[in-house]
Amino acid sequence: MAPDGYYIGLMSGTSMDSIDAALVEIGAGKTRLLQAISHSWPQALEARLRSLASSEACTLRELGELDHLCGHEFAHAALKLVDACGLDTGRIRAIGSHGQTIHHHPRPPAPFTLQIGDPNIIAEKTGITVVADFRRRDMAAGGQGAPLVPAFHQAVFQHPAKNRVILNIGGIANITMLPASGQHSTGFDTGPGNCLMDLWCARKRGRPYDNNGDWAARGNPDDELVRALSDDSYFQLPPPKSTGTEYFGGEWLDRKLKAHPGLSDEDVQASLLAFTASTISQAIERWAPAAEEVLVCGGGVHNQALLNKLSRLISPIPVRSTGDIAGGLDPDWVEAAAFAWLARQALEGIPGNLPSVTGAQHPVILGGIYPARNNNNY
Ligand SMILES: Nc1ncnc2c1ncn2[C@@H]1O[C@H](COP(=O)(O)OP(=O)(O)O)[C@@H](O)[C@H]1O
Ligand SMILES: [Mg+2]
Repeated sequence: MAPDGYYIGLMSGTSMDSIDAALVEIGAGKTRLLQAISHSWPQALEARLRSLASSEACTLRELGELDHLCGHEFAHAALKLVDACGLDTGRIRAIGSHGQTIHHHPRPPAPFTLQIGDPNIIAEKTGITVVADFRRRDMAAGGQGAPLVPAFHQAVFQHPAKNRVILNIGGIANITMLPASGQHSTGFDTGPGNCLMDLWCARKRGRPYDNNGDWAARGNPDDELVRALSDDSYFQLPPPKSTGTEYFGGEWLDRKLKAHPGLSDEDVQASLLAFTASTISQAIERWAPAAEEVLVCGGGVHNQALLNKLSRLISPIPVRSTGDIAGGLDPDWVEAAAFAWLARQALEGIPGNLPSVTGAQHPVILGGIYPARNNNNY
């Protein structure tokens, strides 16, 4: 058993809402969340990131500059967290930095996934060893490179007697099936989480998200639009599968809306919510028919209208937050904690992927290691 240690996880998902930084203590088979902060992206940088992630073309100069600037922001977030918790950096064994996804394309002929935020800068500025670039080794082993959180879900949330599903609702939504018997866990991206609702809300109301889902709740879903949105081959694909906002983005939405003109803005939002809830519930019904409990994490847990809809669709299976169970974790920090945990896996030389989830040919140690100092004494 490795010694107990403190680890930091840094996560910014496809929502680009902020950098989440979580300090966890890992030891004796347990992961304890000690402190967490979120660090907002500077507005101008966020705009450049969104533009980079949504366009096919960019200059190498822009990509390089953003990699550099993101590295500084991730370091800044880590240092803010260190400051808040009052720990000496020397006591923190590593930072697991996911990076900012710019493009995720797990399909042939040349599958790739790109996360930026130079880990060299994070190591240099914080003086803490950094583990980063988690996804590409899984991809090199034939996997999707995503989702990677299921191994952590399994370590933290598997129940001896209950079949659980962990549902992470970020920009994209993913589920992890955790069978009670301890059989192989499985999981995949179900499709859009908050991303399309966020996009529509930003476009029509100038706000980053529909607080609580209140706006959607005032509208009425249009059945035909919901059907049209659901008519995408991604939903029929069997796992392993993963996706991103470069696919489920503005162009995709505009194509669907074009065929359904004349709906009010709030009815469109209600339709997007209904579609999101139904693709998630269908994924659970089809691939986790024995589920006895669904535990939700990620920012979508704050969209009460979405959770209400989902609860109705998968009733009588209870839908709860990952924070509401014994030994649970605050749903806002599960993903950041997962990358802290994955950093430890890498340093211990333990694989971090689940081939049953990503489709990789075998388990692999994920991430490149950027030592804090000129020795490998991490
Ligand atoms: N109060 C809220 N009401 C509705 N949605 C919310 C609320 N708070 C956060 N969210 C949603 O959660 C998203 C962020 O979730 P997060 O798990 O950080 O996603 P990602 O991993 O893609 O960054 C926001 O973009 C928003 O859609
Ligand atoms: Mg986020």
